[in-house]
Amino acid sequence: MTQEKKRILTGDRPTGRLHIGHYVGSLQNRVRLQDEYETFILIADIQALTTHFERPELIRDSIYEVAMDNLSVGLDPNKVTLVLQSHVPAIAELTIFYSMLVTVNALRHNPTVKTEAAQYGYDDMTYGFLGYPVSQSADITAFNADLVPVGEDQLPHMELTRKLVRRFNDMYAPVLKEPQHMLSNCSRLMGLDGNAKMGKSLGNAIYLSDTAEEVAKKVKGAVTDPNRIKATDPGNPDICVVNKYHHIFTEKEYDNICDMCKKGAIGCVACKKLLTESLNNLLDPFRERRAYYESHRDEVRDIINTGTERACVIGNETVRKVKDAMHLIV
Ligand code: TRP
Repeated sequence: MTQEKKRILTGDRPTGRLHIGHYVGSLQNRVRLQDEYETFILIADIQALTTHFERPELIRDSIYEVAMDNLSVGLDPNKVTLVLQSHVPAIAELTIFYSMLVTVNALRHNPTVKTEAAQYGYDDMTYGFLGYPVSQSADITAFNADLVPVGEDQLPHMELTRKLVRRFNDMYAPVLKEPQHMLSNCSRLMGLDGNAKMGKSLGNAIYLSDTAEEVAKKVKGAVTDPNRIKATDPGNPDICVVNKYHHIFTEKEYDNICDMCKKGAIGCVACKKLLTESLNNLLDPFRERRAYYESHRDEVRDIINTGTERACVIGNETVRKVKDAMHLIV
């Protein structure tokens, strides 16, 4: 007998193109998991609206960009299901039902909501933004996801989801699946400018869709050991951002590179050239696949539409069970 595959749900907010920080932190993992698990990838456009409601054109364009980013890194459209959040009514319906089971204070104390509110400068936040973790619980439970691969910042949302599921199942009927999280083992990729985070708003991102020349230019501008003046000065790899990137992107040569830096046997310019090569070797196959999808946009739209239709069927079934459990029947 064939065992049914467990289901994964992950998501991205379409507020711009994805960068190599996203690749290292999550996309790479998705590619690895796509054979073993039934994978659903949510393009979370409603969640994007919670912070970018004034920029609907950006969200519209980013839906395609994010879909192409996912496809270009090697997610196979015959294996994974891409889902457009705003086109799954079940998510909106579940969000309303779940909102009765979550207090405003619990949301206000959610550490990720707090951090993001500070980041966006909200001193008074919208109802939609405050409530987005409830909507995320709806994303996850609508499709009976077993596993949710996440970074650490998403853990409060996973806790909320599990609490909600337990409350719902205890109070009404056991119809919702309690999801587990899978913590991504890779820490955040720092910016080449030395900023702790790579981000589009910080202007320090290397995009999956950047050209080889763009990558070379960005790497050239990276900060290295400030005490090194001449190429033959002994360097300190521990305080060099380029070195941290080599650790991830030039794994095989890493020890050798550290050695040479410490001895002053490789200068920063040459070291950066090596990093540019490593990054471009990684990105080249992505660029090739992306070029295909860029010239077959209809195919991208079909992939999103087919996936979303599939997701709607599953979501509607969950809503039916939820309404049943809540005695919302005539
Ligand atoms: N909150 C996630 C992020 O900011 C995106 C997301 C939306 C998500 N819905 C999800 C992630 C469901 C996992 C599961 O990256």
